[in-house]
Amino acid sequence: MATEHGSDRRVERAPASTDKPAGELAVERVTHQDIPAICSLYKKVWESENGLPAELVKTWVPTPLEFTSWMEGVTYFAARRAGHLVGVVGVEPRHGAFRLVHLAVDPESRRLGAGGALLTASVEWARRSNAVTVWSDPLARFEAAAALFRKLGFREGGLLHKHDWGEDVRLFELLL
Ligand SMILES: CC(C)(COP(=O)(O)OP(=O)(O)OC[C@H]1O[C@@H](n2cnc3c(N)ncnc32)[C@H](O)[C@@H]1OP(=O)(O)O)[C@@H](O)C(=O)NCCC(=O)NCCS
Repeated sequence: MATEHGSDRRVERAPASTDKPAGELAVERVTHQDIPAICSLYKKVWESENGLPAELVKTWVPTPLEFTSWMEGVTYFAARRAGHLVGVVGVEPRHGAFRLVHLAVDPESRRLGAGGALLTASVEWARRSNAVTVWSDPLARFEAAAALFRKLGFREGGLLHKHDWGEDVRLFELLL
């Protein structure tokens, strides 16, 4: 898809790991063919998170048609292992500040590098698209996401109370 931010579909490949036999991890731009698998992934991820507000789960589990409209103005990347979709993230550019949205990794594929590979590919893509900053606002309860952002060098800039369906969100930013 050609946008004002370019049509770069370069594939990002994480190095194969010798101690993780699950197969090579690849991160690439999503296509419309990925939509059913992406919707299934979001359903699995958000319905497996205990205690999330019902309205939030409803909003974050899109139908294929809803996801198609999410793709307008947002570039999504998918992480695959052995051809199987294991994670997704969106990058939403606005005035040079690129926001990371809808980051999710299959619960059965966590701690194998998919989340890190998705964020690394997103940051690289933002850099190539002349972004000046990348930021995100995960729910404060998502400790794994906070640890991941910190590991990748994001700075925690604050906390917004009851910002998303009554949930606190943390602000993370990475100046490029
Ligand atoms: C956050 C999330 C995307 C991480 O995905 P992942 O594929 O497991 O992440 P990685 O394997 O790349 O982890 C990279 C690093 O992040 C940190 N990290 C990830 N999960 C962690 C956890 N549960 N506890 C502590 N640190 C964690 C670690 O430093 C990890 O490196 P290590 O495994 O070498 O210690 C995943 O846990 C997820 O989908 N969570 C639910 C959805 C969510 O929080 N979305 C984000 C906000 S909307």
